[in-house]
Amino acid sequence: MQTRERHSFSGSLGYVLSTAGSAVGLGNIWRFPYLAAKYGGGAFLLVYILLAVTFGYTMIVSETALGRMTRRSPVGAFSRFSSSTPAKAGGWLNAVIPILILPYYSVIGGWVLRYLFGYLRLSGGTMAADGNFEAFIGSPGMSVLWFVLFAFATMAVVFAGVQGGIEKVSTIMMPVLILLSVVVAGFSVTRPGALPGVSYFLIPDLSRLSLMTVVAALGQMFYSLSIAMGILVTFGSYMQKDADIERSTMQVEIFDTAVAILAGLMVIPAVFAYSGGTPEALGKGPALMFVTLPKVFFSMRGGAFIGALFFALVFFAALTSSVSLAESAVSTIEDELRLSRRPACLLLSCIMLPLGLLSCLGFNVLSGVTPLGMDFLSFFDFMTNSVMMPVAAAAICILVLRCVGVSRMEEEVLSSSAFRRRGLYRFILRYVALALLAVILVSSAMDAFGIIRI
Ligand code: TRP
Repeated sequence: MQTRERHSFSGSLGYVLSTAGSAVGLGNIWRFPYLAAKYGGGAFLLVYILLAVTFGYTMIVSETALGRMTRRSPVGAFSRFSSSTPAKAGGWLNAVIPILILPYYSVIGGWVLRYLFGYLRLSGGTMAADGNFEAFIGSPGMSVLWFVLFAFATMAVVFAGVQGGIEKVSTIMMPVLILLSVVVAGFSVTRPGALPGVSYFLIPDLSRLSLMTVVAALGQMFYSLSIAMGILVTFGSYMQKDADIERSTMQVEIFDTAVAILAGLMVIPAVFAYSGGTPEALGKGPALMFVTLPKVFFSMRGGAFIGALFFALVFFAALTSSVSLAESAVSTIEDELRLSRRPACLLLSCIMLPLGLLSCLGFNVLSGVTPLGMDFLSFFDFMTNSVMMPVAAAAICILVLRCVGVSRMEEEVLSSSAFRRRGLYRFILRYVALALLAVILVSSAMDAFGIIRI
């Protein structure tokens, strides 16, 4: 049921900017480099790009067209085509994932904020010192404090409804972020000893290809492009009937992937230059960016300033993403529980605090509690990206295949533009998508039960 006047983007530029703003975030700058470092460098990059232009493309087009066709957020869009229980569950799953991602996303956002303030107050040497990051997340008070600050900033923006304002800020910040990333990446790749890192990241070595590379790349592609979380359906519903879906999708993908590659070029060569590129250094996981980049900044002239600027820009990129995660959660709560904005924001905050707290405390007070052998933050990341997301994406594919019909989707795209990759779209949707999703789900389950190690 539509209770509010539906806002709409002005032309496809509005769609592209908002979608890119929500897509480019910690996924590109923090998550992509550590996964690429861990799962085979160039082989990971190759698989990632291939998946993004085929499977990712198909998913984005489907979600956007579904949204534009129905003018609803996911729960409504699903129930429009089928009133069966699985369809309802599918819609809800798409809506619930952002609610579970947001808390731990805000914990990482808090880490970024703390590094920003660190650079403003302390010397670059202090930030780059060995053990600085571990000491920070090891302190319950500090990590909770910065998480709460980031979460508060997110909710304040959503509550005050000033997204428009921060989106304007980010249209200026994003180009600056890219420019600065080019500078830092250029510096990072020219460090003595960095060259093997460049070739590790850019030249695919197919002997490093494994099932795990594919599973990690798939999960990352969903995460980075914000697929299967309702957000693209929602943005599609704001899209005008004459906007070009095919071209907008391409633009968002190119932009998002370019930022990820730049982040990889900043971080991975630096791991080789400063930590020798050993498997242990490459497999550092979530800590990687926070440990290596300060070392890069420290060896640059004016590094403290560059560090502060860099973390400020990452903070904005993270904030635009967390705001759209929260916005999608709040609008679902408003629509489905028929609450007004203030109680909806309050309810979301009440969900977010305990879950975020768990993620913070998993590195210190609760480090003995390890669900599925992981710390809480990795556990939430794993559950949402490797377990729930494939199911949510499968729900979208099944809805399209069974209830909406592929030809109806194609008509929606064709109603406003050409659809050059229609054959590819049809093929992936009919024959590849569900099989690939099943592969992620099965291997994630096997990983969780310790049969294989992802
Ligand atoms: N894509 C975002 C990033 O790369 C994270 C994200 C995942 C997201 N799903 C989302 C952001 C939904 C907004 C809405 O950081």
